[in-house]
Amino acid sequence: MKKLFPFTIGLAIISNLTGTIAAQTTIPVETGNVAVVLQTDKNNHLKIIHTGKKLQAPDEYTAAGRMYHLSGDGGSSNNNAFTVAGIDNNFSEPAIAVVHADGNNSLDLRYENYTVTHEDAATLTKITLKDAVYPFYVDLFFKAWKNEDVMEQWSVIRHMEKGTVTLNKYASANLYFYNKDYYLTSYNGNWAKEMQPEQTQLKQGMHTIQSRLGTRENLVGSPNFMLALDAPATETSGTVMLGQIAWNGNYSIQFETDINKKMHLVAGINPYQSAYTLKPGTTFETPRFTYTLSFTGTGTGSRNLQNWLRNHQLLDGKGQRLTLLNNWEATYFDFDQEKLVGLFKGAKDLGVDLFLLDDGWFGNKYPRNGDKAGLGDWQENKKKLPDGIPYLVNEAGKQGIRFGIWIEPEMVNPKSELYEKHLDWVLREPQRSEIYYRNQLVLDLTNPQVQDFVFGVVDGLFKKNPDLAFIKWDCNAPVFNGHSQYLEKSRIPQSHLYVEYTRGLEKVLQRIRARYPKVPMMLCSGGGGRSDYSSLKYFTEFWLSDDTDPLERVFIQWNYSYYYPAIAMCNHVTDWGKQPLKYRVDVASMGKLGFDIRANELKPEDRSFCQEAVKNYNGFKDIVWHGDLFRLVNPYQSDLASLMFVNQDKRRAVMFNYLTNSRYISEAAANPIRLQGLDPAKKYRIRELNLYANQKSGIDESNTYSGDFLMTIGFNPNVTLSRTSVVLSIEAL
Ligand code: GLA
Repeated sequence: MKKLFPFTIGLAIISNLTGTIAAQTTIPVETGNVAVVLQTDKNNHLKIIHTGKKLQAPDEYTAAGRMYHLSGDGGSSNNNAFTVAGIDNNFSEPAIAVVHADGNNSLDLRYENYTVTHEDAATLTKITLKDAVYPFYVDLFFKAWKNEDVMEQWSVIRHMEKGTVTLNKYASANLYFYNKDYYLTSYNGNWAKEMQPEQTQLKQGMHTIQSRLGTRENLVGSPNFMLALDAPATETSGTVMLGQIAWNGNYSIQFETDINKKMHLVAGINPYQSAYTLKPGTTFETPRFTYTLSFTGTGTGSRNLQNWLRNHQLLDGKGQRLTLLNNWEATYFDFDQEKLVGLFKGAKDLGVDLFLLDDGWFGNKYPRNGDKAGLGDWQENKKKLPDGIPYLVNEAGKQGIRFGIWIEPEMVNPKSELYEKHLDWVLREPQRSEIYYRNQLVLDLTNPQVQDFVFGVVDGLFKKNPDLAFIKWDCNAPVFNGHSQYLEKSRIPQSHLYVEYTRGLEKVLQRIRARYPKVPMMLCSGGGGRSDYSSLKYFTEFWLSDDTDPLERVFIQWNYSYYYPAIAMCNHVTDWGKQPLKYRVDVASMGKLGFDIRANELKPEDRSFCQEAVKNYNGFKDIVWHGDLFRLVNPYQSDLASLMFVNQDKRRAVMFNYLTNSRYISEAAANPIRLQGLDPAKKYRIRELNLYANQKSGIDESNTYSGDFLMTIGFNPNVTLSRTSVVLSIEAL
């Protein structure tokens, strides 16, 4: 880590209320285009004076704060850099609330110093604040990624008081926006209904998005959001912030509109049931609040996040992925080794890389023949798999495909040997009846022995099966019985449970990655219950939703695409929905393609279609995984969805078009669609992909068009009631 000299621009001498002289410090934190600027006031409190576009001359930032004359009680403290509870004429939501060792519950954080260093490809600004009376410190961190315009913001809390300090609230980030209007897009959800967007104009009071589920942070609400500033943003215009709190646990993001119609944002771990006691000399590091700001709409914003994830966060973000055949919907729990080996042939025939064995392969005393028993007993079921997993890995290898496996190692069914042997490992209220979600309970990952056990599930599989090529890691229950025997025995307050659960899981994932750095793992959670950026450091991809109805999927994938690159998004072709097989395959091809069908029972024409589609996918997957995404036509505003991916040198692109409304009077076919991201000067040829052998495209492949034409006039993919999904390859001559 290279240390740079801290710099203070426009150092001004100002006198404070007591008449002493204080130097005013201005701290600009900048990416390529974005700036968050902080400045001390005459009492040495740190304020946010600008959040938005970077200025060309940084020394001009010093004047920014003076341009606002915000009045009203509390008005002078609403723009605090880290809002405190308990003092300072503060009318707005605190980012931090503590009870000191002596029982006092006030805070008055003053600016101490700051440093700027370089870490990875980013600039790291650390600003230290200290209480005016107590030896209590907050370090504010800003990691600014210049090239991607992404900012990571978090805090580290520490103290040297004479006893334990209780943290009642400990946010990662506190921001302040000086815009006129605010439009928040947030997401509700549920099983098979993840990421349902809603736009709300925030005019007054507090709007909170949060989870209190312990695990599965993306289930009923999502940590992803976008906040359009001044006016609603479009794909290509407007100022908009897109981001999430990167925490695999309870989060809360609060948007508070103040009396001056300015926006105060506080993001972090949800303080719900989570007072945290901090010993002197120790630190509490909060999760990263990760966001980008775009001044040219949501398209740029999401490409920023996608690039950042691929370049710096997602495991093997710039690498390759395996296409697969999964047996979940093909067999559910009803299989044995012969049936599975029979399915391998289907995978081989399709041309995919891997066979993924899903739930149901384990448990003997309590066989996993349904979702009521067996979770926790990770031994092969002898009846179904008499020759064990090694036999399956070997058989798959013989057929030229690789083998992967499903696990859900954080969970336990009460009907299991694990539950019988280790009741103390289970999160449960000892004096109350157990509450189940999908007939199961959550293991106590605050307990190091349980961490060893969960690590051992994965390690054991790899030790016995060194050729195992893929893991699907599921998590199907929230923490409904939030009591830990381990914390109780260790005399740690139960209110540490949610935080320590998440940290315990991260420790396990770190150990797994230390030993198995590369093997692809899919993050799954009863569908798309988990997709936080912090977990994606350990996973190569995630499962968006159990809803694989392709029409629904167009919308679900559309919503996720604002925050994630396609290489991270697993899409499977299944039997859900009424759309033709082609539609299902085309939709699944917009990410990491998989199949979850009885491939060996496909009709010959369907089989050849799928084989051809997998070949085509192999031809363009590099563009989908590593190229730039442009959302062209929004299915929420039209009868059509259209998206395209363009490779880095703008020579190759692939465009996906879907009819999303089957009304006879549809405007879908009427208009050309304006493409994006091409080179105006290049000439392109357009070819239709993924057609059945007997299907004619109707698109004249001999025509060529300039990028200028395609982006100004557009191209009509001719999506009609008889051509409900159209995939086009666009190649420069
Ligand atoms: C969850 C997952 C599914 C499947 C089942 C198995 O619902 O999302 O893909 O693995 O569990 O029980």
